[in-house]
Amino acid sequence: MAWKPDLKWSEVTPKAAWLNRRALMTGALAAAGMPALARIKANPSAFSTDETPNTLEEITSYNNFYEFGWDKGDAAALSGNLTLDPWSVEIGGLVERPGTYDLADVMKGQPLEERIYRLRCVEAWSMVIPWIGFQLSGLLDRVGVKPGAKHVAFQTLLRPEEMPGQNGRSIDWPYVEGLRLDEAMHPLTILATGLYGEDLPRPNGAPIRLVVPWKYGFKSIKSIVKITLTEQQPPTTWNLLQPQEYGFYANVNPTVDHPRWSQATERRIGGGLFAGREETLMFNGYADQVAGLYSGMDLRTNY
Ligand code: MTE
Repeated sequence: MAWKPDLKWSEVTPKAAWLNRRALMTGALAAAGMPALARIKANPSAFSTDETPNTLEEITSYNNFYEFGWDKGDAAALSGNLTLDPWSVEIGGLVERPGTYDLADVMKGQPLEERIYRLRCVEAWSMVIPWIGFQLSGLLDRVGVKPGAKHVAFQTLLRPEEMPGQNGRSIDWPYVEGLRLDEAMHPLTILATGLYGEDLPRPNGAPIRLVVPWKYGFKSIKSIVKITLTEQQPPTTWNLLQPQEYGFYANVNPTVDHPRWSQATERRIGGGLFAGREETLMFNGYADQVAGLYSGMDLRTNY
């Protein structure tokens, strides 16, 4: 066992107790006449899983964030200097109200919810993460999607001075991703701005990232600076790199293996050395909500 300097409350508090304590703390602070400054107010959601979330430590120290490097610990070690303020998102393409919106404006009027989602990486590991965010549909409704728009393209910040991995040429930066418009409008699809009741940590894509829980993690693009409504299906980073291995859809599917490994099972991070692998669920367990989006489609060819 590795020695732990100290345990964080998030490591020892299961979700129900944690939510309760948060309510208590907020109440106690308010009673003392003090605002609960750091805590984000977010409503619970019926879309949350009741599985136990991973610890904050696990969620922020085991990451894929290639802008900082190829090792799982690189984002935690090297993202500390990333400037998050000011931050703006350019929203354009087929929208009624294009523009460069600062983060506060992007979030304006969007009800924050806690969404405890499973995250399944294409590499066959998984976590449960208590995101805080709002539905992407809310933002798209606000900027007004024009008829003719069929897809949404996303782009990550390009800043090699602060993102050392962007000095490498293995990926054609910036990282880009995309969704079909109906996927983007689905109520499960969120823009996350926090987790565990706090602002989003840098290794997880601060200050704002996409979360699409029924797709492999690489679709959930981090640190977004640009959203464009398009007619054509937009290019996506992993598909450009390895088209035979990573498709545009990337729906979690235990019956379609990656060319180099099986997708039938997964390893839950934090499960311990002797925890068995878990079965991977169709659409990562969200089939009831999203299978209809793909009716009539061959998911073997549209991987
Ligand atoms: N977004 C950007 N910009 N760069 C990345 O390297 N990695 C993706 C996705 N979003 C990535 C990204 C992959 S492969 C996964 S599995 C998830 O982020 C991991 O999210 P997490 O670190 O918050 O668990």
